[in-house]
Amino acid sequence: MAKIIDEVSRTFSEYLLIPRLTRREHQVKNVSLRAPVARFNTKAGEESQFSLNIPFVSASMQSVSGPEMAIALAREGGLAFIYSSQTIEAQAEMVAKVKAHKAGFVASDSNLRPDNTLSDALELRRKTGHSTMAITDDGSKNGVFLGILTDKDYCEFDDEKKRPVSEFMTARENVVLARVGISLHEANVMLHKGKKECLPILDQDGCLQSLVFKKDYVNHMNNPHELTDKQKRFAVGAGINTHDYTERVPALIEAGVDVLCLDASDGYSDYQKEAALWIRETYGDSVIIGGGNVVHGDAFRFLAQEARLDFVKVGIGGGSICITREQKGIGRGQASALMAVAKERDKYYEETGVYIPLCSDGGLSNDTQIIIALAMGADFVMMGRYFAMTSESPTPRVSIGGGIYKPYWGEGSNRARNWQRYNQGSGEAGMKFEEGVDAYVPVVGNVKDVLDLTLAKIKSVMCNMGSLTVKEFADNAVLTRISEQSFIEGGTSNVLSLEKNIPRNV
Ligand code: IMP
Repeated sequence: MAKIIDEVSRTFSEYLLIPRLTRREHQVKNVSLRAPVARFNTKAGEESQFSLNIPFVSASMQSVSGPEMAIALAREGGLAFIYSSQTIEAQAEMVAKVKAHKAGFVASDSNLRPDNTLSDALELRRKTGHSTMAITDDGSKNGVFLGILTDKDYCEFDDEKKRPVSEFMTARENVVLARVGISLHEANVMLHKGKKECLPILDQDGCLQSLVFKKDYVNHMNNPHELTDKQKRFAVGAGINTHDYTERVPALIEAGVDVLCLDASDGYSDYQKEAALWIRETYGDSVIIGGGNVVHGDAFRFLAQEARLDFVKVGIGGGSICITREQKGIGRGQASALMAVAKERDKYYEETGVYIPLCSDGGLSNDTQIIIALAMGADFVMMGRYFAMTSESPTPRVSIGGGIYKPYWGEGSNRARNWQRYNQGSGEAGMKFEEGVDAYVPVVGNVKDVLDLTLAKIKSVMCNMGSLTVKEFADNAVLTRISEQSFIEGGTSNVLSLEKNIPRNV
């Protein structure tokens, strides 16, 4: 007969935190949200070789994680996993695009030859949205630099569009330039002194290497938590599957990826172990690989011990666009899954001294649930819907019934057709049934603004819990289950809510 787990499958909303003693040092300004991503052995005195500055990563999904999301998230200290449901070349190109963004130094993405026309420049501006263009001998981003064109150099309505850009551009001899090797600070001083918005950086042959924009420097100074690699390029992750990893992983590594994640709805499999071990054998321990998803202790131990993964992702069936539980009857309430896996992780740590970070993936529908996930032992969280709602997700805005929305679809939906994520090694081609839906989510603002609010709440709760680090927070956390009645009590009660009942203009 089947084994029945007595414990009911529970979700985050069924729990509340009981505050602990807040000491004077427990102030928001002292809180660190750094979170390890790579496993480390404390007995050997190791530290994690890769950590996030905020405990947030975006899901490896077509409607969530493109290069724009990756740059925005790295700027805030988190990491995006560029989706794998695309060709190897396209995914590697997206990774390379993110890596071209050094904090402050960017590869020029809008370039023309001197004989291109003003009409070409207008078309390029429409495509890239950028009005500063480098003019190089061959029109490439690393060609010999000849000049710079901005929208201040021409009048779109009056100037003859067939004239070549060489007649409008500021020629090289009149441009303030710098050599490769200059620091960001020095570059900014030059921009400031020259009253310029953009500084081209050239190599010794006069070829363009990058551009420094004043606005990026300001951004950089305002984002002390940027997540970068040793060369100060933005960090980026990528989803991979258990089918084509022998070709996909080399291409992603070549493009400069920082973290790989085996993306599968059910990761408790030989396929995941074989893929992880192949990567380890081919590239050694310096490549960071996560995997999952799992919902119980045995599966965690399998991935930690046998597949030697760096981090393990927890969650099956909880995603906002997910219909796996309905379609296949597999999954587990996210809180129960996370607690079961965290318990096994802690046991493994006690036995071996090896700490394996956990990522709670899917189903986080508000800031409180994120807080509870961290309290229950997640080192960081992965979210799809949360980031799909921001301006930086790769989908277009649409107006529906007076509101502004963006499309958001599951990787297991017909639209994504990411059959690798769902048919792990089963040998069956294509998808016979969907495990995700095609939906819309409201647009809420840019990544920075939504994160600012969530992070402020997390830090405030950490102070309530007498904790200054995410680990301390989980170690100090005391949680209580709540009844349906106390859940109701938690909302407003016996008052007329201004929001719901009284028109704003009364
Ligand atoms: P969300 O943050 O609740 O929107 O959940 C995002 C997570 O859902 C992803 O990180 C995946 O683990 C999972 N997911 C993505 N697409 C699908 C799908 O089509 N079906 C089931 N789960 C999905």
